[in-house]
Formats: sequence, structure tokens, C-alpha cells
Amino acid sequence: MATKEFKRAARIILVGAPGVGKGTQAERLMKRFPQLSAVSSGDLLRNAVRNKTPLGQEAESHMRSGALVPDDMILRLILSELKSKSWIPPSTSLADAAPALPSSSPSASFILDGFPRTSPQATKLDALIPINLVVSLITPVNIILGRIADRWVHAPSGRVYNTGFNKPKVEGRDDVTGEALTKRDDDGEDTWRARLRKFQETSEPLLEHYERQGVLWRVEGNSSDEISPKLFGEFERRFC
Ligand code: AP5
Ligand code: MG
Repeated sequence: MATKEFKRAARIILVGAPGVGKGTQAERLMKRFPQLSAVSSGDLLRNAVRNKTPLGQEAESHMRSGALVPDDMILRLILSELKSKSWIPPSTSLADAAPALPSSSPSASFILDGFPRTSPQATKLDALIPINLVVSLITPVNIILGRIADRWVHAPSGRVYNTGFNKPKVEGRDDVTGEALTKRDDDGEDTWRARLRKFQETSEPLLEHYERQGVLWRVEGNSSDEISPKLFGEFERRFC
């Protein structure tokens, strides 16, 4: 498919329960619109843990228990990622009270998967870069729980597979690199339930924050296949 130029920059956030399909939808959006890129806060944290950085060592116990990492930790990580992608100027600091002017070029279009997750994180992000679409993904909890047991990931890239629905071409191997797939440390049922409780606690104020700004869009479906066409349609209406 030819790459379509966007009429304006898309700055999108995906919000939803653990396992709802944020990573899956981000991958599909990037396949459909190759000029988009995505940042997953969970993948950034898991990389930091794997590389045993000071931040990773601090984050690990929070993640293993299904809790959120402290806001200031995730904010530091995201700020440095946004700068390294040149989506915000290198001089931007967390103390800034007004948005640094992000690149307005439609090519500076991105998806944030898993950040912000709390309303204080959203307030901080408002001061760094204005978001223009917040997608709230909704799928019944009993359906999500069934998927998590079948999830396998390629840890270095964050690519997600599912033995029931999105099998790798070769069992146990990443399609792109051929490297081994692994389970995530936080995918046991008890930890997943703890993550779900955290999501239920924090998501309401987060979504209200964006509802007030008029950028919230909700989409429901029992599967990612039901959700993707609706998401693509909405994306095209707004940005193409
Ligand atoms: P994070 O990595 O963001 O985890 P999460 O929000 O719990 O979400 P998941 O990645 O588990 O699920 P997903 O929605 O991406 O679903 P997926 O596409 O994989 O965060 C991990 C931890 O990091 C947090 O607990 C916290 O500690 C910390 N953290 C991260 N961000 C933070 C922040 N901002 N502040 C503080 N702490 C933070 O899909 C799930 C499965 O379903 C896959 O196997 C997939 O293949 C499958 N699937 C998808 N669609 C279908 C379908 N149609 N049918 C069947 N299976 C399907
Ligand atoms: Mg994910």
C-alpha cells in the first residue's frame, strides 16, 4: 500500500486494561500507516530491567508485583525517549509549565502505548506535548484473561504473539529475527489481577482528564480483529 501523507501530526495514546491489545493495535497501526512510530512504556521499562540500568533495578520489584512504577521514574524515562526521537526539543525539562513546541510536521506522528497511566502523568505530559487522540480500548475482562496465558513475546523488540490467535511462523521463534520467544515475568494470573486492579483504580481519572479536553474516543470489541477496522476508520477520518 502506498504511504499516505497525514494532513496533521497524529499524537495518540492507547489506554486499556492489561492484555486488552494496546501493543497489538499499535503494531497494526504502524503496519497500516508506516510513517507512525510507537513507544511502549512497558517495553522501555522491560528493556531497562533487562539491561540492569539503575532505573531498571528500581522498577523491577514494582513490575513483578503488578504495581505501577513511581510517576517520576516513568516520566524521566519517557522524557528521554521523546527527546531521542526528536519529538520534543532537547532543552525540554520536566519543570516546564507550558508545552515545548513539538515538531508540527505530520511526520512527527506517534503512538504512546501505556503512558500516561495516571492523571498526574497526563498533566505532566500536557506540559511537554499536546496529545490529540486518546483511544480507550474496551474488552470484557474474562476474554482478556484467556489470552494472557497464550501470550509470548520477543523481548528485545516487544513484538507480541499468541499461540491461539497470532501464531509465530515457526513455533517459539520471532518472525523477524528467528530468536526465541519468552513469557513476560508479570503474566501469571495473580499478577495480572493485581495489574487489572491498578488499572481500574487509575483509569477513571485519567480518562476524565482527556474527556475534559475533548480528545477521548472509546472503542469496544471482543477481539482485536473487531477493534482494528474501527480504529483505522477513526484514524483516517482525523488524520488522513
Ligand atoms: P505494560 O507493558 O504497558 O502492560 P499492560 O498495560 O499491563 O498491558 P499489556 O502489555 O499486558 O497488554 P496489551 O494491552 O499491550 O495487550 P497485547 O497487545 O499484548 O506495563 C507493564 C508494567 O510496567 C506495569 O504493570 C507497570 O508496572 C509498568 N508501567 C508501564 N507503564 C507505566 C506507567 N505509565 N506508569 C507507571 N508504571 C508503568 O495483547 C495481549 C494478548 O492478547 C497477546 O497475546 C495478543 O496476541 C492477544 N490478542 C490480541 N488480540 C487478540 C484477539 N483478537 N484474539 C485473541 N488474542 C488476542
Ligand atoms: Mg503491551
